[in-house]
Amino acid sequence: MTVLETKQLTKIYGGKNESNITHALNGINIKVESGEFIGIMGPSGSGKTTLLNILGGIDKPSSGNIKIMDKNIEALSKDELATFRRKNLGFIFQDFNLMDSLTLKENVMLPMVLDKIKPPIMEEKAKEIMEFFEIYDIRDKYPYNVSGGQMQRTAASRALVNNPAVVLADEPTGNLDSKSSNNVMSCFCKMNEQRNSTIIMVTHDTFAASFCKRIIFIKDGSINIEIVRKGDRQKFFNEILDCQAVIGGGMTNI
Ligand SMILES: Nc1ncnc2c1ncn2[C@@H]1O[C@H](COP(=O)(O)OP(=O)(O)O)[C@@H](O)[C@H]1O
Ligand SMILES: [Mg+2]
Repeated sequence: MTVLETKQLTKIYGGKNESNITHALNGINIKVESGEFIGIMGPSGSGKTTLLNILGGIDKPSSGNIKIMDKNIEALSKDELATFRRKNLGFIFQDFNLMDSLTLKENVMLPMVLDKIKPPIMEEKAKEIMEFFEIYDIRDKYPYNVSGGQMQRTAASRALVNNPAVVLADEPTGNLDSKSSNNVMSCFCKMNEQRNSTIIMVTHDTFAASFCKRIIFIKDGSINIEIVRKGDRQKFFNEILDCQAVIGGGMTNI
């Protein structure tokens, strides 16, 4: 089943004067099937964040369209979009975006509070997902009293608690040391394999990317190369490095 599809997405930033214009995206076509785990890579400034923000309805494209679960999201009103995002999308950010004044469990329950879910059901769902990520025993701690990896697993729990159609992650390991990165990426694999979550992750971290099943490399706002993982993770890691070397070397579209 196709969960997300974009057609000829473009994004132009800037003013009336041609010299101030940035073509951040130049006709991106992506099709994502249920259960995929996709990495988006590319040099700094290539349009990764712009793309992810448009996929998540945080930003609007200049032209083209995005279908998520058969809905054209660029056509939704602001209110419709807010509801659609809460029900269908999960977000994980580099800096976790947890609320410091709430416990880990309260952070996980927050999307359900906004959806007015009954408290016993909220408790049950939070317990289930926090046990899955092995953070239920620290549920009453506050974000500043736990490690970066535990914070990111809390953010992942919050993103998954509504069973979203797609999880969007922007540099989820960007603020983590290598041990925590490994731990968080193992959790991403677990959610992809055991809960069949569809994940789209922007990263410049080759190690994190090696956990994905498919990588889309973008350069200058266009899809440059795409690779699919066939063998083990170490082999994929080396393939990703090769692609990065090619793109970094200034090759034009393939
Ligand atoms: N709000 C904005 N206004 C103007 N230009 C922007 C804005 N956001 C991003 N850009 C430009 O669009 C291009 C792509 O940026 P971005 O998507 O952030 O790249 P990446 O995440 O790959 O580093 C860059 O040239 C950047 O300077
Ligand atoms: Mg970025």
